[in-house]
Amino acid sequence: MTDTGLPKRTLGNTGLQVTTLGYGAMSLDDRFGRTVTVDEARTVLNAVLDAGINLIDTSPDYGPSEEFIGESIAHRRDEYVLATKVGCPVDIDRGQQGHVYTRRNVIAAVEQSLRRMRTDHLDIVQFHGSPSRAALEEDGVLQALEDLRRDGKIRFVGMSGTLPNIEDHLQMGVFEEYQIPYSIVQREHEAAISEAARQGAGTLIRGGVARGGPSEEKAWDVRRLPEVPQERPRQTWEQAGLDVLLDGMNRMEFTLRFTLSHPDVHTTIVGTANLDHLRANCEVARKGVLPADVVAEAKRRLDAAGG
Ligand SMILES: NC(=O)c1ccc[n+]([C@@H]2O[C@H](COP(=O)([O-])OP(=O)(O)OC[C@H]3O[C@@H](n4cnc5c(N)ncnc54)[C@H](OP(=O)(O)O)[C@@H]3O)[C@@H](O)[C@H]2O)c1
Repeated sequence: MTDTGLPKRTLGNTGLQVTTLGYGAMSLDDRFGRTVTVDEARTVLNAVLDAGINLIDTSPDYGPSEEFIGESIAHRRDEYVLATKVGCPVDIDRGQQGHVYTRRNVIAAVEQSLRRMRTDHLDIVQFHGSPSRAALEEDGVLQALEDLRRDGKIRFVGMSGTLPNIEDHLQMGVFEEYQIPYSIVQREHEAAISEAARQGAGTLIRGGVARGGPSEEKAWDVRRLPEVPQERPRQTWEQAGLDVLLDGMNRMEFTLRFTLSHPDVHTTIVGTANLDHLRANCEVARKGVLPADVVAEAKRRLDAAGG
């Protein structure tokens, strides 16, 4: 494993040293209008590790993503922290709508992920879909994960949480890591990220490049960000007049560095199936946070614009 100069931060009390740029393997699914072949996935996943990225996030319901990881990089398992999710329907629950938070599903999902990704342990298992506290307490699903931990199959229990339920999750105080959506055009979880970190949890951001929307290439023509109306990111950017702050940066650099500038963010799992984007994102992550006065001015403008 070579040091490629990507900065690392400690993922809260898990103690894991993770690169500030992680990899979101949902981009290997065909939901972005293109099909990624197994050969392309192998190239991308190996390039991710060669670039020094040491955290990969996936889910049972990202199409072939888990299988691609198993086929392509299981032999490099000691080079990455592996995060996946539970609550997604697995084979036993075919035909179910939405997520399924039962002990049986959680155990079956973890066993399936271990098999698909050809590993004997998952580092982080997150509840997908921000379940309610009642759903979490109903059928012993938290205990199921504790049992799996005792058996050495998982290391840390996380939550993919969003408002409003994340407030309950934070009150429960049992999660060791949170996956939270955040970017310069999606700031509603800014305080929740800080509260999670204050409690000692690891904070892992999704949507940290706003799905590539600010880039010239995508020009806001992207599938909507989760939880955000499609037109809102562009309006937020334009109403806040963020272009005047670029100072030679392109919008993607500014966007990713803004996400990394949140003082309580530990890592950002950016998705891509494009090697040029991967390289560019690594370059940006190496540059690190934005100057404090630029962040402050961006927030002042965003607040004034209602973003
Ligand atoms: N827990 C949940 O409910 C949940 C929901 C959504 C996502 N996630 C996780 O979070 C990860 C990231 O989330 P996300 O995909 O929604 O958001 P994201 O990382 O902000 O956006 C990924 C998109 O941005 C594009 N992109 C990346 N770098 C780029 C660059 N330099 N220039 C132009 N476009 C660029 C990618 O397209 P190209 O392939 O063209 O580069 C990709 O479609 C996912 O992979 C998944 O692991 C979790």
